[in-house]
Amino acid sequence: MLRWAGAKSRFMDRILPRLPSSDGGLWEPFGGTGEVGLTWRARELEAGRRAHIYYTDIDPMLRALFAVAASPRYLRDIFDMTFERQVERTKSEHVAGDWSALRIQYQEVRDEFNRLLWDRAENTYTHPHAAQLAALGLWLNRAGFNGISRYNKQQLFNTPVGRHNVQGPIFPSAEEREHWFSVRYNALRDNPRYIYAADGPPSSSCIVYADPPYTGFDDKPCEFYLQRYGLPETEQWVKTVQNWPNYIVVTNNLTPTLRQLYGDHGFTLIDKYMRPGTVSAGDRTPIQEGIWVRPFKG
Ligand SMILES: C[S@@+](CC[C@H](N)C(=O)[O-])C[C@H]1O[C@@H](n2cnc3c(N)ncnc32)[C@H](O)[C@@H]1O
Repeated sequence: MLRWAGAKSRFMDRILPRLPSSDGGLWEPFGGTGEVGLTWRARELEAGRRAHIYYTDIDPMLRALFAVAASPRYLRDIFDMTFERQVERTKSEHVAGDWSALRIQYQEVRDEFNRLLWDRAENTYTHPHAAQLAALGLWLNRAGFNGISRYNKQQLFNTPVGRHNVQGPIFPSAEEREHWFSVRYNALRDNPRYIYAADGPPSSSCIVYADPPYTGFDDKPCEFYLQRYGLPETEQWVKTVQNWPNYIVVTNNLTPTLRQLYGDHGFTLIDKYMRPGTVSAGDRTPIQEGIWVRPFKG
């Protein structure tokens, strides 16, 4: 349902076998779509095992969407109404091949999204505003540029409008949305800590699957909500996890610097593959990604 830069769905076959079973569950600290954890969970349930998943992401659009998934039905209704209203407007105003109406709507939705982002009471993702935020966020995600979610220094969402075929952006149907939410709702139901796993793993037996952002192109770090993410942040994260006893699997871009960094901190590179052209790089140059494992410590 979401277009998410760096989503791992197409590499699931390579990543999933690297994630062992664990009664302690699996935590994705850089969760994105959360698809890796959800696929792990489906595999574990299929085999009759316990499968708690924990999810964290800094992005407020994702946090709002996941919060709505876990919320009472009335928030889903607010979500649906808000989303449908915007989709209807796009459908009625868009003229094939003419981008003027979409550009105006995009600007308005983005302004409203940013206003709600600042309006909402601190940490209350169970507020009706969260449902509106999530709905406008999903509309922006589909109408915006290549599933990129970027914020400027004022912490305002500033991804530009996307390029689409003449018919305009394609929005997820009610069925698609229902499915997306119900899968997450089922995962959340038996695990109230799904969203706010906060600073560290919930237990020492929890598997950690970390998929941090790329360290940046030409040393230019990506700007995320509340902070940028580049090589210094990656170094900081690798140092932090040194004290964790957990089994950790990492996917990241495979540069000589990162190879050295992970290697120096007890991680073993166990696989590599090419991601064909990445949207964030602004071109279609293939990027090499690696999978590293750091076994349980102690
Ligand atoms: C490569 S994407 C993860 C994609 C995910 N594995 C998937 O399949 O959808 C990296 C994620 O890290 C998040 N992120 C960036 N900075 C972060 C931070 N400081 N803490 C937590 N998440 C962060 C981004 O919002 C983004 O969703």
